[in-house]
Amino acid sequence: MLMNYSPTVSHCCNVYHLTPKLSPNFITSFSPSSPCSLPTQQLLSHHIYGHNIIKRKPLRKGLKIVSSKSEPLKVMISGAPASGKGTQCEMIVQKFGVVHISTGDLLRAEVSAGTDIGNKAKEYMNSGRLVPDEIVTAMVTARLSLKDVKEKGWLLDGYPRSSTQAESLEKLNIRPDVYIMLDVPDEILIDRCVGRRIDPLTGRIYHVNNFPPDNDEIKARLVTRSDDTEDKVKSRLQIYKQNAEAVLSTYSGVMNKVDGNRPKEVIFKEIDSLLTRLQIDKDEASISGKLTRNERSLSSSDKKNWRGIPTRLNNIPHSREIRKYFYEDVLQATQRAIRDRKTRLKVEINIPELNPEMDVYRIGTLMELIRNLALSFADDGKRVKVCVQGSMGEGSLAGMPLQLAGTRKILEFMDWGDDGAMGNFVKIGSIGGDEVDDQDDMFILVAPQNAVGNCIIDDLRAMTDAAGDRPVILVNPRLKDLPGSSGIMQTMGRDKRLEYAASFEICYHFRLLYYAGTQYPIMGALRMSHPYAYELYKRVDDESPKKEKYVMLTTFPERPSGDEINDSFEGKSR
Ligand code: AP5
Repeated sequence: MLMNYSPTVSHCCNVYHLTPKLSPNFITSFSPSSPCSLPTQQLLSHHIYGHNIIKRKPLRKGLKIVSSKSEPLKVMISGAPASGKGTQCEMIVQKFGVVHISTGDLLRAEVSAGTDIGNKAKEYMNSGRLVPDEIVTAMVTARLSLKDVKEKGWLLDGYPRSSTQAESLEKLNIRPDVYIMLDVPDEILIDRCVGRRIDPLTGRIYHVNNFPPDNDEIKARLVTRSDDTEDKVKSRLQIYKQNAEAVLSTYSGVMNKVDGNRPKEVIFKEIDSLLTRLQIDKDEASISGKLTRNERSLSSSDKKNWRGIPTRLNNIPHSREIRKYFYEDVLQATQRAIRDRKTRLKVEINIPELNPEMDVYRIGTLMELIRNLALSFADDGKRVKVCVQGSMGEGSLAGMPLQLAGTRKILEFMDWGDDGAMGNFVKIGSIGGDEVDDQDDMFILVAPQNAVGNCIIDDLRAMTDAAGDRPVILVNPRLKDLPGSSGIMQTMGRDKRLEYAASFEICYHFRLLYYAGTQYPIMGALRMSHPYAYELYKRVDDESPKKEKYVMLTTFPERPSGDEINDSFEGKSR
């Protein structure tokens, strides 16, 4: 399958101590030395949606900082035996301070303590079978009800492992923010299990080849798990596969498949980015008194599948809700990038709704996006200049790109609210060095692009030189060279021009994916929102009633190639 990857759209810092094991077996208990600290306090902003401006808060100069305690993280991690769950859990706990609940560890502790539960569980575990649901569920729910879990959040490892276990949690309204699925090919798993060694004193996981211990003292005390023989691993793997599908279907909306066949630090980087984003979402939700994206989706049946990206992307024109989603998504990414002191930014949002080449009326959506960005930054006290390029070139070559014709007039006639934003905090300008005034705090450039025979880059460069360290944001730029009127490409200084165009960092990217050669129906999407990874979504519609739905397949630290996207769609491991 070849995906059309280039559509033609133009446009805690806490220190945790390992405490000695609770039982003579492998339980690892982490006790934070201080309560989990939340990520940096968040900035408040007010968003405006829709064609008509609703009431806005009075403009204020300066940024408002608010602090609030948010809901702790709720994470499930799953994967085949030896996919690296325990290894990643160590790192997650260290960074996020959540309480790690591993059913394998809990059961092994019972076994080594010789309790009734342990004696019952032993025979199942030794043969690689699942311990009866009622035993495991009672253990997990008891642990989940303890105070530390409520305060710090939880990280469930190895539970639920069957549809009955997943149903038990659903009945108790216990749901994760994210379901991480570590994906590792079978042949790797067997070697990982057979080579695994555990330190009975600290509970740390080692591997004879991959992660040997640092010193001989630890090496001498390492033990092998009784179920880590090749035969038992094969049977555990088979049982895992029989149950995985049923559990996955319960959590498909929050599922995040992570390639577990990479160095453990690389895997953790991806998980870290995912959880950090979730934590920020939760903090922002608690600050603004709103629900998180996940909670919103759970609280409303209509928005049930809006975890990640909206549904009904195949319906054009998009609904107001979908447009709102994109305006807010772009705004948040841009705000985060500016907070991170980025000054040369680029937004690439490639949806038909924003493509005036397909339908001139769609310029309205682009203008609405620009207005949302400009007014939100103005609300934070910034003086924003919104710039549309004017006519370029001379004589018969004078002109401007068709899609931008009339754009400046539309911007001037738009409803910018009646509290004086337009003219004071928002100004309209063109592109060029002369357009930069001392009082401007930032610049939003509407779809700057080269036209036939004319190149915008020199004007753009003059503008960024004059802007200095003030942010310049390009929304849907198109800076590749176009052929001149004689059909000849401009070549003079081309490398330099392309290098300059590439100096703008992408802070938001959204692209729809189609089968090669088609532009309908949408098969998936690629999204990146600063500072997080690229997320790949696949359309997996609900059959009855027929509903468009997207699930996240995987994430990429850098923009993936077409081949990488194809491989993920085909379920191949990276
Ligand atoms: P459990 O302890 O949960 O075992 P499991 O699911 O089979 O998973 P493992 O602990 O074997 O592997 P892991 O994914 O944690 O990998 P690890 O990080 O150690 O369950 C054991 C038994 O308890 C079950 O069989 C069942 O009987 C019972 N049970 C548990 N939960 C139950 C439930 N809910 N219901 C019923 N019964 C239940 O890594 C493995 C090795 O690979 C290590 O040596 C590690 O160093 C190495 N490694 C890790 N990451 C990497 C990497 N990126 N690259 C190279 N090597 C790596």
